[in-house]
Amino acid sequence: MTNRILRWGLLSTARINRSLIPPLRASPRNRLVGVASRDPARAEAYAREWNIERAFGSYEAMLESPDIDVVYISLPNSLHAQWTIQALRAGKHVLCEKPLATRVEDVDAITATAAAAGRVVAEAFMYRHHPQTLQVKSLIERGAIGEVRLARGAFTFTLTDHANVRMNAGLDGGSIWDVGCYPINYARTMIGAEPVEAFGMQFTGPSGVDETFVGTLRFGEDVYAQFDCGFRAPFRMHMEIVGSEGLIVVPRPFKPTARETIYIGKAGDRLEPLTIEGPEWLYLGEVEDMADAILEGAAPRVSLKDSRGNVAAILALLRSAHAGRPVEV
Ligand SMILES: NC(=O)c1ccc[n+]([C@@H]2O[C@H](COP(=O)([O-])OP(=O)(O)OC[C@H]3O[C@@H](n4cnc5c(N)ncnc54)[C@H](OP(=O)(O)O)[C@@H]3O)[C@@H](O)[C@H]2O)c1
Repeated sequence: MTNRILRWGLLSTARINRSLIPPLRASPRNRLVGVASRDPARAEAYAREWNIERAFGSYEAMLESPDIDVVYISLPNSLHAQWTIQALRAGKHVLCEKPLATRVEDVDAITATAAAAGRVVAEAFMYRHHPQTLQVKSLIERGAIGEVRLARGAFTFTLTDHANVRMNAGLDGGSIWDVGCYPINYARTMIGAEPVEAFGMQFTGPSGVDETFVGTLRFGEDVYAQFDCGFRAPFRMHMEIVGSEGLIVVPRPFKPTARETIYIGKAGDRLEPLTIEGPEWLYLGEVEDMADAILEGAAPRVSLKDSRGNVAAILALLRSAHAGRPVEV
């Protein structure tokens, strides 16, 4: 098995594909073979532009092809679950963009289908594989800041293009699914538990999606996460993890580069910098993780249980914002 090279297909011509193409080409265990589009001419043009061997004129055609082992799903959010399930049924392994699904039942259906098909599926939270994230987790596990009490973060950028899929309610757009999912995922990962209660507030734009979301999650007695996300503020991101004996500040948690600095200490006014080296391509980690899982039988770093927890937390926050009061997760 270990000599095998995985043949990848891109399911859609999404903008995000261009982040995956260089690492797929750099990784010796993976090879980019094809791209599929709803529009055959677009698939052909994309394959020419990016020098990809095969162009598939429909998603179905790619799934039917024996020349593809792994499918990368970069569709709008509302289509993730259905195409992940179709790809698994066709015998493909799947790396699906975040969010893996927008309903908990769909994560369960994906889990059952993957088990029945004996195929690997993972949600593409690329930042989870970066050494910076692994180091923060390891510092927390080693007790460097005591017991985690609070994870606080943000992810915003300015989006004014109302034709963007993120602004489309029918495609499960909105800022919490698009970028809020990151601080929620980060907080759950670093706290190492699932939230029990959620309280959210949102600003709803003209298309009906949340363009700003501010949320609080309670994880148990005196352990919380707080975040804001949205399309109506400048590009910014950060996380702060506060423990009983210290804190860690991560200025670039979700899109870390090849060299990042985090800050750690016992008190906010005396934090020490800690520099962490990463790979040249942020998205290499998720590609290698898929190869480890498929070729070596390793467990994917982002498990389906983990993805289910993130989806459940987001849905509870949305329910709370709707109801105007805290809700159980
Ligand atoms: N991990 C990350 O860093 C990251 C960054 C950006 C985005 N993402 C995720 O990646 C996914 C795609 O985002 P994107 O900004 O790259 O999207 P995008 O450029 O708008 O592309 C979406 C693609 O989906 C296909 N599609 C199928 N049905 C569609 C429909 N009804 N409307 C629009 N497009 C449709 C289209 O490809 P064809 O017409 O060729 O079939 C289109 O090119 C999202 O789920 C997003 O959350 C992740």
